[in-house]
Amino acid sequence: MVSRPPRITDVSRSAPLAPTVPLVPTAPTAPTAPTAPTAPAAPTVPSVPAVCLALGLTLALTACGGVHGAPGGSGVRDPYYPKAGNGGYDVTHYALDLAYEPGPRPRLTGTATLTARAAWDLSAFDLDLKGLDVQGVTVDGRPARFSRAGQELTVRPHDALDAHRTFRVTVRYSGAPETLTDPDGTREGWLPTADGALALGEPTGSMTWFPGDHHPSDKASYDLAVTVPKGLRAVSNGELTGESTSGGRTRFTWHTAEPMASYVATLAVGRYTVRRSTTRDGLPVYVAVDPAEAAASRPVLARIPEIMAWAQDAFGRYPFSSTGAIVDAAPQVGYALETQNRPVFPQAPDVGTLVHELAHQWFGDSVTPRTWRDMWLNEGFATYAEWLWEEDHGGPSAQRTFDALYAHGEDEYPGLWDFPPAEPGDAAHLSGTPVYQRGAMVLHEIRRTVGDTAFRALLRGWAAAHRHGNADTADFTAYVEKTAPRKDFTRVWDDWLYGQGRPDRP
Ligand code: TRP
Ligand code: ZN
Repeated sequence: MVSRPPRITDVSRSAPLAPTVPLVPTAPTAPTAPTAPTAPAAPTVPSVPAVCLALGLTLALTACGGVHGAPGGSGVRDPYYPKAGNGGYDVTHYALDLAYEPGPRPRLTGTATLTARAAWDLSAFDLDLKGLDVQGVTVDGRPARFSRAGQELTVRPHDALDAHRTFRVTVRYSGAPETLTDPDGTREGWLPTADGALALGEPTGSMTWFPGDHHPSDKASYDLAVTVPKGLRAVSNGELTGESTSGGRTRFTWHTAEPMASYVATLAVGRYTVRRSTTRDGLPVYVAVDPAEAAASRPVLARIPEIMAWAQDAFGRYPFSSTGAIVDAAPQVGYALETQNRPVFPQAPDVGTLVHELAHQWFGDSVTPRTWRDMWLNEGFATYAEWLWEEDHGGPSAQRTFDALYAHGEDEYPGLWDFPPAEPGDAAHLSGTPVYQRGAMVLHEIRRTVGDTAFRALLRGWAAAHRHGNADTADFTAYVEKTAPRKDFTRVWDDWLYGQGRPDRP
């Protein structure tokens, strides 16, 4: 068990850890909120609207420079990605209409129409967009002024948007989308492949192919239309609602009804063999595989219905309206990703990886971390799902996996004890082994504390309690304590979840 490779290309963990970051509220409304040490000075963030509103409208008009409303702000104060997401509004729907021309000079042309709700009277608001050229922006059909600085696209609507009003912003854009390199050294964003491209968004890659509120705390429904040269396919999240060819181009439309965080949105363009089927309870399965990986993928992907049945038993009712997988031939990617409905694999996966990514549909895609610091709620759970799968299918018990990790886990997972799962310290350590392996060990310690039956109920209950929502580590510990009020979790939290170094043997 311990010999399974990490889910992600290993990168150096030698950098010293940043000191513990204090908890910072992500809701940009409290004027007294402390500033995260990692956050750059952000004059446009919460204090302005809060102060303006506190002064009352008449005074605010004077105090806030005679302009009705206040700007939304350039981030939501994520402790590790302070500029990710934007303040002042909440997106409810993305309608993306894209055309992609692969080749030596790839080109993406797009129109993004976002439906959003203003949180306060907005004089301006930001979208996150990295690279690409913006040709025009409208708000509710009227041309709006806009400016760009780094990943922030600032939009100034002709008229301020009243608090709580629903508005539509349309952005026309084009260019060659960028590939980003994460602080942890992995590549994401727009990844050209031999026959097309693959868009992967964790944690901030989605801003390379569409403008949006790119933070996991703002989930929305999606409609995506993609036009590609005839002979290629465009595969995304949700369900395929249309496919039509004319003039040498094929247009695919995809619909995602359930709330989706933008980092699990995907688009795969290329040659794919498509297989459609249904699970035992009638859930549509849509699998797209690069022909080069088809033979190696077939026996593994054939187990999707079996894995889904097992996972529904373990984690409760599946949160989405279809499932499947996208298997590309993209060795340069080096990791799989739990893109909603159908995870992406850069090559034919093994069963453990498939179980991991399908488990993420509950833990990550449906119950989504409130901030990037809460990553272990994704990776610890998905890793524990692999342990449970092994235990339930004749492999080692989770206890044995735990024991082996405790005894000599560092041999296979260097840096296993470098930091606590709940506090990776900075963006460079989000995908570190403590988040995955030690995160799973936290769950096993909870299981030992409450017992097997209560633990299984707890997994299902947690997935149900925050279904299609967001949750952070404090929500989780509170949930565990509430479900097992007579148990003592002091050591689990203090040593395993938040403590430095290898905890004493349990
Ligand atoms: N979430 C992916 C998985 O384990 C791995 C991954 C890809 C990742 N990009 C990341 C983890 C960025 C942390 C940060 O299935
Ligand atoms: Zn994972």
